[in-house]
Amino acid sequence: MQTPGPGQQRQSARKKRDSVTTGSFYSLFESEVPEREIIASGAILLRRFAFESASELMRDLDWISAAAPFRHMITPGGFRMSVGMTNCGYAGWISDRKGYRYDSRDPLSGKPWPVMPESFRLLAHSAATEAGYPDFVSDACLINRYEPGARLTLHQDRNEQDYTAPIVSVSLGLPAVFQFGGNSRKDKVRRFKLESGDVVVWGRESRLAYHGVAALKDGDHPLTGRCRINLTFRKAL
Ligand code: SIN
Ligand code: FE2
Repeated sequence: MQTPGPGQQRQSARKKRDSVTTGSFYSLFESEVPEREIIASGAILLRRFAFESASELMRDLDWISAAAPFRHMITPGGFRMSVGMTNCGYAGWISDRKGYRYDSRDPLSGKPWPVMPESFRLLAHSAATEAGYPDFVSDACLINRYEPGARLTLHQDRNEQDYTAPIVSVSLGLPAVFQFGGNSRKDKVRRFKLESGDVVVWGRESRLAYHGVAALKDGDHPLTGRCRINLTFRKAL
């Protein structure tokens, strides 16, 4: 039997890939991961969707974090969160001994949160549209910074007033393992590797899905250095 040459192998691998992807970007590379993946009903992973905007997003993050620095918030139970957080937009998510909530002002400075930059708004809107949520208008962006070892335990995003809007979550820098379960804490949790530029959008049947991030592995990324940045866009008010 004749063994296929490298060209033939590539051809059949590409056919297989094209059957699970919608675009041609990944078919240029030796990668088996689909460009977009439905991870649950109403939830989709758009791989590399923010890849091209990543450096602009990071530049805008510089002035946001100069005005509203990353800080480790305290949970209502008294624990210091391992993830560093700040916000931009009309409303910022905060946590302290009094509870989880949104506030229009940064408690550190007493000033309104930095305005959401155009680059952030455009990306959130185009990712939501791509995921089937063209009406998404975000008024809150929580910015999470994970250093090695930082993690976010399984939780639901439920401090927002309106669950008809989806969540748009953008990953930048070091890769992380994203955990995505169902609407009950007991539901099976699936794990997805999120890399720089990946965007996850969840809404409708998945809007209250439990999700979390496993402890970040150490590494060095050209975009962010020794950390992962996550931008979570929501309609809070
Ligand atoms: C979050 O659930 O607020 C953040 C998710 C992530 O960092 O990917
Ligand atoms: Fe969350």
